[in-house]
Amino acid sequence: MSQAHNEMLQTVVSESNLGDYMEARSRFDWETVERHFTWHASGKVNMAHEAIDRHVLEGRGGKTALLYSDASREEAYTFADLSEQSSRFGNVLRKYGVAKGDRVFIFMPRSPELYFSLLGILKIGAVAGPLFEAFMETAVKDRLEDSGAVALVTTPELLGRIKRSELPDLKHIFVVGGGPQSDAGLIDFDAEMAAAADDIEVEWLTREDGLLIHYTSGSTGKPKGVYHVQNAMIQHYYTGKVVLDLRENDVYWCTADPGWVTGTSYGIFAPWLNGVTNVIRGGRFSPQDWYSTIEKNKVSVWYSAPTAFRMLMGAGDETIAKHDLSSLRHVMSVGEPLNPEVVRWGWKAYGQRIHDTWWMTETGAQLICNYPGMPIKPGSMGRPLPGIEAAIIDDRGQELPPYSMGNLAIRAPWPSMMAKIWNNPAKYEEYFRLTGWYVSGDSAYMDEDGYFWFQGRIDDVINSSGERIGPFEVESKLVEHPAVAEAGVIGKPDVTRGEIIKAFVALREGYEATPELKEEIYRFVKEGLSAHAAPREIEFKEKLPKTRSGKIMRRVLKAWELDLPTGDLSTIED
Ligand code: WT7
Repeated sequence: MSQAHNEMLQTVVSESNLGDYMEARSRFDWETVERHFTWHASGKVNMAHEAIDRHVLEGRGGKTALLYSDASREEAYTFADLSEQSSRFGNVLRKYGVAKGDRVFIFMPRSPELYFSLLGILKIGAVAGPLFEAFMETAVKDRLEDSGAVALVTTPELLGRIKRSELPDLKHIFVVGGGPQSDAGLIDFDAEMAAAADDIEVEWLTREDGLLIHYTSGSTGKPKGVYHVQNAMIQHYYTGKVVLDLRENDVYWCTADPGWVTGTSYGIFAPWLNGVTNVIRGGRFSPQDWYSTIEKNKVSVWYSAPTAFRMLMGAGDETIAKHDLSSLRHVMSVGEPLNPEVVRWGWKAYGQRIHDTWWMTETGAQLICNYPGMPIKPGSMGRPLPGIEAAIIDDRGQELPPYSMGNLAIRAPWPSMMAKIWNNPAKYEEYFRLTGWYVSGDSAYMDEDGYFWFQGRIDDVINSSGERIGPFEVESKLVEHPAVAEAGVIGKPDVTRGEIIKAFVALREGYEATPELKEEIYRFVKEGLSAHAAPREIEFKEKLPKTRSGKIMRRVLKAWELDLPTGDLSTIED
């Protein structure tokens, strides 16, 4: 490593304690962070090179990169192993003609192969599209269709959810763990991997070339493909240092699935760009299992979500007493408001401050955070990262003084900001409609110390267990059911999940409002779209409130539900 590089690392490492926050802000610049990357000198960019191969080239290939476990597997892989496995998959993709810029999706439960595949996709400069395993037929089809994915990695269990006849762009499907495939278009992943060479010339890219697409929900229309580029690695690396506080000997665990942005930015990129051992636990949530994961792997840095912390809190402190959690040094949360009560419980139960962090799929990385060493005000999301300017603005883009509620906005751009919405430039422009700002869709206020306090969403987007759900996608599925004439969907406050999905449904002529029908409609959405998008509560109504142009007025449904005044009804139908 060069002298300049060493000095640079020291600057960043010493910033990892942002106790003197204002001082760290004033001397910060992104250019200093950029000097960490090999492309700063070479001009050759590739995320997989920086996150994996580089460690091998610099003599750290023998270090454990991945500690994987689920109910049936327990495996460890070094950086050299990951480098070889991802090179193999890169070679397999090239063999089938997949090239730079092509979209390659991954639809499977967490497993080492998921990580090999994703890194392999990046090695050849293709754009990765990880899909959450719980998605059902319609959700999978919408995403593959919109992105024009040419290849997919999946498992035999999930194959049935892929409507191949309706996806003309999808040419190759790699099946993991399925044995030889006889069906045309299906390829045996394991056989191909075994036959492929384990070294590769990676595709050299520019900072503006594609990295991945995550689909996410807004209040209208189908899910949007949030497109991120290589440049994001600057912020993944930097936040890994200063927010995750990653140090050489850390064992880090991010509980998110790579189907969501937390599971890629902080489940893959931030830890590996920082050369740290990364724990991946497959399977479902269970308090016993999670605490064992910490204990067995001696996890020191842990990143999870409020819903999980609330469920762990509910599991009781006896469960904690059965485990040695003394390896923990730093704990963080993201995805929904972190209740002050949970912060106080974390302090008592784990002896850890749970550090809240705020960001979004679109922002690509953390923006407003509680850093190690910074005084925490329970209930606040924290303060903007050095290099990031956040403000509360009104609907014309004027900055508001402390304690005024308004739009939470970020001065654009920053390194990990999305580069486009796939196939939808108009939607992209909407986020930047107030000159100079990215408008988040969240409402918040700032206090006199510059701490930000989340208040809610400005639109109808629902946040259930930290997962973002667009009411339109659920409503569209509901009206596909033969009994449903009209449907309106809202988020209903819930102690554990933050919000649950509640659907108001008007039935077609000839259908009777029975509990069995409710159950059937619930299952219809669960099996057609996904479990987390299914309405846990359904209420039948004669008629739904609509505008004269026929749009269902979700705010009236919400007012009904919460027993609030319905507000201005001048646009209602009759
Ligand atoms: C929305 C983004 C990228 C992290 C996973 C969620 C809500 C996120 C917080 C927080 C209160 C939060 C916001 C945001 N949110 N973090 N610390 N406190 N709310 O990513 O699915 O794109 O959702 O999640 O409403 O807009 P996402």
